[in-house]
This record gives sequence, structure tokens and C-alpha cells, in this order.
Amino acid sequence: MKGIKIKGTGRCVPEKTVTNADLAAIVDTSDAWITSRTGIHRRRHCRGETHTSLCAGAARAALKKAGVPPEEIGACIVATVTADTLVPSAACTLQRELGLPQDIPCFDLNAACTGFLFALHTMECLLNASPRKFGLVVGADTLSRITNWEDRGTCILFGDGAAAAVVECREGWSSIGAELGCHGDDRLLRVPGVETGHRSLISMEGTRVFKFAVEAVPWCIDRVLARTGRTVEDVDFFVFHQANARIIDLAARKYRIPQSKYYKNIGEYGNTSAASIPLVLSELADLGRVGPGSLVLTVGFGGGLTWGGAMLEFA
Ligand code: UT7
Repeated sequence: MKGIKIKGTGRCVPEKTVTNADLAAIVDTSDAWITSRTGIHRRRHCRGETHTSLCAGAARAALKKAGVPPEEIGACIVATVTADTLVPSAACTLQRELGLPQDIPCFDLNAACTGFLFALHTMECLLNASPRKFGLVVGADTLSRITNWEDRGTCILFGDGAAAAVVECREGWSSIGAELGCHGDDRLLRVPGVETGHRSLISMEGTRVFKFAVEAVPWCIDRVLARTGRTVEDVDFFVFHQANARIIDLAARKYRIPQSKYYKNIGEYGNTSAASIPLVLSELADLGRVGPGSLVLTVGFGGGLTWGGAMLEFA
């Protein structure tokens, strides 16, 4: 089996910043509570932007960084739960917007906040069976459009954004060793679909999801290390889904990961769902903190319930 590496990353976030003080004006909350319980200071919300425009912005930036023309892409996956339209999918819309080839699979993938990792694994499998060697994976969500603005337990958490990675697949490269899982649960974290009588707004039992996450993260780390034959010390950078700074800090403490080897941008963007992990990857790449040869262990978890980890290498 051939493996994939990250060739280039890009991101696109809305301009509008919403601070904790802005939210305290609409629900009974405070900057002190949000900051201490989540680590979030502000987040971005779409005003003029759309899911499509964010995806296109992130994908164009990633293609440019990778130096790969759209016509060389062999598959396109958008991980999301909030595409502008169910049909066409966000990925089919991207095909048109970017001028991707027409003879390739383009589709959306729903694994909530773990979506980007599910999509990377799927892309690795697809490119193994493709004559083309590059793939485009986007993580994008505009959760502000399905947020319940009367629920202070959730509305303070989410932000909008998109980020993308162009990956390359080659003989001789190691697999990303993805370890993915799910446990069907429709109570802890739920967004209704086409059921009748429900508005499609997010509901979540935060404390129980928190407990699930605290167990899922070490499970993923241990499984990925075992599968790839690596140790914590081999890893150059740890990238965690940005759902709550406390979850990230607990994992860092458990594995004695030094501060120089993990990163939090939740303070700036909140929880951006499927965009969260690639947003971190893209910022780290631009900061020069990861680059060719870097080994990045990444972990995600979220609605479904879903969880996953993978060992990413930059080309
Ligand atoms: O990305 C998908 C995965 N998602 C996650 O991983 C999210 C995981 N969960 C969490 O991050 C946390 O559970 C939350 C940040 C959502 C909530 O934090 P918590 O420490 O679990 O708080 P809680 O829900 O247990 O609430 C504690 C108290 C309650 O008041 P009482 O009953 O103790 O009087 C809440 O009503 O805090 C209250 N509360 C708030 N107070 C001020 C809940 N939300 C707020 C708020 N502002 N926004």
C-alpha cells in the first residue's frame, strides 16, 4: 500500500469576529466563564461569506502552497455537516469552482468534528486505487448557521471556518496509520436532519461529551503510536481537535508533551468542527513550526460519536 503526505495547506475564515462580550449581550454568560471553562476568547461568524466561499478560499490557498494545479487532483473530499446545499455536495460545487477534473470522485463526508481525519483516511484509500497522485481534502463548517442562540451551553463554543490540505500519494511512503471509530449515539450530540417537527439546531450534553473526549484522546494516541511503531518522543507535533482547551491540556499533561510540541488556536476561532484540525495544521505550516519531514500525530473526536487519530507527515 502506498502512503500519503501533506503537500500544502490553506485556510479561509470569515472576517467577522464575535467576542465573548458580544455573546454575553445575548445569553446569560460572561467572558470569565467562557475563558476559564473553554479557553475561547473569540470566534468568526459568516456574514457575507458562504460555506462555498470558505471552502474555495481554503482549497485555492492549499493548491497554491502545494504547487499543484487543479487539473492534477485525483479526488476531492469535503468533510462537513453544514454544506450550503445537500445536493450538490460541497465537493461537487468545489469541482466547478476550482476547475477540478470531471473524471474524479468528489463527495462530502460526515463524521462531524472527526471528519477531516475520516476524509484523510478515505483519501489515502482512494489514491491507492487512482492513476493520479494528488488529492484535495477540505474540512469546513459554518456551525453559526445551526446554533441555538438561546442555549448558553453550546452557542458560546462554535465558530465558522474552512481549511484544506493537498496530499500526495507515493509508493514507499508510510500509511498515515489512521485509527478511526464510532459509537452511534443520538442523544449526546445531535443535529436533526430531515426528520419532521425538528429545527436543525445543535444540541449537546456538554459534560458527558467532555468525559467521552477525555477518554477518546488517549485511546487514539496509544492506538496510532502502536500501529505506526512510534513513540511520543518521535512525534514532532501533536495536533488536537480544538473543542476545549482543557481537553487538550489534560492530554498534554498525561503524555508529558512539552508546550513547544502542541498548539491551541481555540482562543481565536472556537470550535470549528471539521475545520478545526486542518486550521491548526495550516497555521503551524505558515509559522514554520511544521514543514517537510515533520511527523504530526493528530487526534479528533465529536458527534456520531466519532473519534480518530493519524500520523501525518509533511512532504
Ligand atoms: O467538538 C465536538 C466535541 N465537543 C466537545 O468536546 C465539548 C465538550 N464539552 C465541553 O467542552 C464542556 O462540557 C462545556 C464547555 C460545553 C461546558 O462546560 P462544563 O464545565 O461541562 O459545564 P456544565 O455544562 O457542567 O455547566 C456548569 C455550570 C452550570 O450551572 P449550575 O448548574 O452549576 O448552576 C451551567 O448552567 O455552568 C453553567 N453554564 C454556564 N454559565 C455561564 C453553562 N454554560 C454557561 C455559560 N455561561 N455559557
